[in-house]
Amino acid sequence: MAYETIIVDVDDHIARITLNRPDALNALSEELLGELADAVTDAQKDDKVRCIVITGSEKAFAAGADIAMMSEMSFVDSFMGNLFTDSTEAITRVRKPIIAAVSGYALGGGCELAMMCDFIIASESAKFGQPEVNLGVMAGIGGTQRLARFVGKSKAMDMNLTGRFMNAEEAERCGLVSRVVPNKKLMEETMAAANKIASKSMISVMAIKESVNQAFEVPLRDGLLFERRLFHSMFATDDQSEGMAAFLEKREPQFRDK
Ligand code: HXC
Repeated sequence: MAYETIIVDVDDHIARITLNRPDALNALSEELLGELADAVTDAQKDDKVRCIVITGSEKAFAAGADIAMMSEMSFVDSFMGNLFTDSTEAITRVRKPIIAAVSGYALGGGCELAMMCDFIIASESAKFGQPEVNLGVMAGIGGTQRLARFVGKSKAMDMNLTGRFMNAEEAERCGLVSRVVPNKKLMEETMAAANKIASKSMISVMAIKESVNQAFEVPLRDGLLFERRLFHSMFATDDQSEGMAAFLEKREPQFRDK
């Protein structure tokens, strides 16, 4: 499909989606988020795709929701139009893993989009922030909720109340990103991670994603039960027999998603 604000490449089981509004540092317009929602939904439906990567440019993953667009909006426009809701829900409904590869600015909605992904790989130049307070507003798609769960109350308050940016090293230290890599290696390392995931059984991959996400939704006892039942259900799969047999026979497993 032809898109205006993103570029989609599907290669070797990986759908790589590049945010592409260079003149606005990949600011998230409704069009961009709509196209992104369509692209990840297509990737979910495409049997060939086993992992999704969302990235931006070297200077910006995304510098936030589009301020020019929002500056024209009223409360009624935003409330009645349910601004950003359908597109972001579509992104979080995807069952295949999504990696955010972040270089440069991931601010406001950009930081929130990265947090909607399953994990974040950052380059040394990455800068994260929730600077909406500088615009007389606040985060609206996870900046007070997901960030608080990821980095704790104190840092989430600090980031949201002062609007300061966090560099990659601080983001890794506080658990916002899973790893920091040299700027030039961002895509190489991200694609290597994506390919590693793509080589696993999609049944375990999708069950793991569902189970980790439960940790943010339900009390520990319920989460542990959910995990245990999913674990038990793995014994109904051919991929479990294959994975364990391959280990014992000292060979690589041939998973068939069955
Ligand atoms: C629209 C944006 C933009 C944005 C940058 N641009 N961020 N346009 N929305 N969020 C545009 C600039 O207007 C400029 O366009 C061009 O991109 C380059 O930006 P500069 O400011 O010239 O670059 P630089 O001096 O390097 O500064 C980079 C920056 C700064 C620090 C990232 O652009 C900045 O502070 N941007 C806004 C960050 C922000 O407040 N994000 C939160 C948005 S609110 P021209 O045409 O002048 O060249 C939000 C709400 C989320 O995200 C809640 C619901 C989703």
